This record gives sequence, C-alpha cells and structure tokens, in this order.
Amino acid sequence: MGFHLLSLGALLLLLTRVFESQALPFDKNYNISWGNNNVKSLNKGEEIQLSLDKNSGCGIQSKQSYGSGSFKMRIKLPSKDSAGVVTTFYLHSHTSHHDELDFEFLGNREGKPHTLQTNVFANGVGDREQRIQLWFDPTTNFHDYSILWNSHQIVFFVDEIPIRVYKNHRGIGYPSQPMQSEATIWNGETWATENGKAKINWSNSPFIAQFQGFNIEGCSSNYNLNCNSTKLWWNYEKFWKLNQDQEKSYQDIRSKNIIYDYCKDTNRFQNIPLECLK
Ligand SMILES: *[C@@H]1O[C@H](CO)[C@@H](O)[C@H](O)[C@H]1NC(C)=O
Ligand SMILES: *[C@@H]1O[C@H](CO)[C@@H](O)[C@H](O)[C@H]1NC(C)=O
Ligand SMILES: *[C@@H]1O[C@H](CO)[C@@H](O)[C@H](O)[C@H]1NC(C)=O
Repeated sequence: MGFHLLSLGALLLLLTRVFESQALPFDKNYNISWGNNNVKSLNKGEEIQLSLDKNSGCGIQSKQSYGSGSFKMRIKLPSKDSAGVVTTFYLHSHTSHHDELDFEFLGNREGKPHTLQTNVFANGVGDREQRIQLWFDPTTNFHDYSILWNSHQIVFFVDEIPIRVYKNHRGIGYPSQPMQSEATIWNGETWATENGKAKINWSNSPFIAQFQGFNIEGCSSNYNLNCNSTKLWWNYEKFWKLNQDQEKSYQDIRSKNIIYDYCKDTNRFQNIPLECLK
C-alpha cells in the first residue's frame, strides 16, 4: 500500500512537471482586468490579443500574487505606426505603498527606433526610469521579455539578454510585497513618444499587441512558502548575480543601447539616488 501511494505521488509530480512545461492557456493563470471588449483569445487561449481603439485600451492580470519568481511573456508589438501607444508587461503589488517592476514599450513613428522603458517602484517610490533602443523590430516576431525577482537582484531580460539589473543593497528600496503579473495597452500620447510630441494616428487603429506564454514560475502567496527559500530555482545562488556571459552582454547593452538613465539625470536629481552609487 505504502509503495503504491509513493509511486502514485511520484507519478502525479511527474505529470505536473510535464503539464507545466507545456504552454498553458491564458485563463489558467490570468484573467481580464479591464476593457473586456478589447481582449481577444485565439487558438484555445494560447494567444491573447490586446487592442487599443478610440474607445478603450485593456489589460490582463494574473489571478494570484507572487513573492518571487521568474516572469516571462512572449510579446509581439503593434505593427506600423504606433506613436503614442503604450504596451506594457509588469508586476504590481496593488498596495498603498506599492511595489512595481515595469516593461513599457513607448510606441514609435513608423521607421523610428523602438524604445523600451523599464522602471522599479519600491514602497510607493518609482522615478527609476531607464530606456533602451531595441536591436530588432519587435513588431514582426514574438520575443521573450522576462523579469527575474529574488531577494538578491531583479533582472530584466529581453530574449535572455539582461538589459537592467537592480540589486538589493542595504538601505535601498527593494520590492518585497507580493505582486501580480499584468499586461496592458493604452493611450500614452501625452508623454510616451518623442516626449509627447508624436500623437496617435487613429486611422491606424485598432492597435493590436499579441501575447503568448502564460505559464508563471513564481512563489504564489497561496503556497505558504518562504518566497526567499533556496528550494525555489530562481532563488538558487547562481541567480544572485549575473554570470560572466550575462555580465558581458549586459555591459554591451549599457554601452550601445541605453538612451536614458535616471542615474545620470542630474537635472532631475541633485543628489544621485543611492542605488546608483553602488
Ligand atoms: C480574476 O481572478 C481573481 C482571482 O481568481 C478574482 O478575484 C477576480 O474577481 C477575477 N476578475 C475577473 C474580472 O473575473
Ligand atoms: C525575503 O527577502 C526580502 C528582501 O531582502 C525581505 O524583505 C523579506 O523580509 C524576506 N522574506 C522572508 C520571509 O524572509
Ligand atoms: C495616418 O495614417 C494614415 C494611414 O496610414 C496616413 O495616410 C496618414 O498620412 C497618417 N497621418 C499622419 C498625420 O501621419
């Protein structure tokens, strides 16, 4: 009997693993947060289209909150002229002094480079924008965008290439509240593209962003686990800092692709923020 129970347990674990490595449909982990009419599910929920038209944008959110993890989304951005159209993928705590980790695609006039902004909010304080120009056209294919979040570092990746690292140094605001994984598309024409000068050309609407890959590898607050536990793979010591190859490609991005870094914005910050000095 004991043997049978054990092997049943092992079988279930194996099946869970196999199941989790397959693409999950949207509604397994996510639901719609706003703009129902602008969310379209394709291919049995393996792909979701979020659209912006004159009436509305829309958003999706994970059903659960997570205290650490590796959050990935495959995204294909609105094609052609998307000036003023902001597409996002981010983590958000929905608390009064909220934590937030953002990917924000700022839209572009057709033919101009694509700008990706990242930001980090800790305990209600943001103002940590960095912007890079992407080295590929994000509107022609799906690409991976992911956030690694453990108690040592937060890393933003584009196709496995680290584009931003935020370290947990003592005395620095660091996101530690459970967050939901979310994605949206909305009208940001007052600020997003060319500092708000490039407005939305509505004759190109609806603007459609496509999303795939709704698996979440995160420490759900339902698990009743210490989300810093080194039993969770994203907390393994090898993920406490970049490895040598990652460090090399990160330095490459920093020297070639960064077009704005709050750490260097002395007009905005008379005292350079503490985390920039480390
Ligand atoms: C989304 O899922 C959460 C958790 O299951 C639930 O509380 C919420 O009401 C759902 N929202 C919608 C719009 O269905
Ligand atoms: C996990 O690490 C974070 C960041 O250092 C810390 O704020 C939090 O208290 C830790 N949580 C537990 C349960 O140890
Ligand atoms: C808006 O887009 C339409 C269709 O692509 C184009 O014909 C028109 O010139 C654009 N308007 C502006 C102001 O760029």
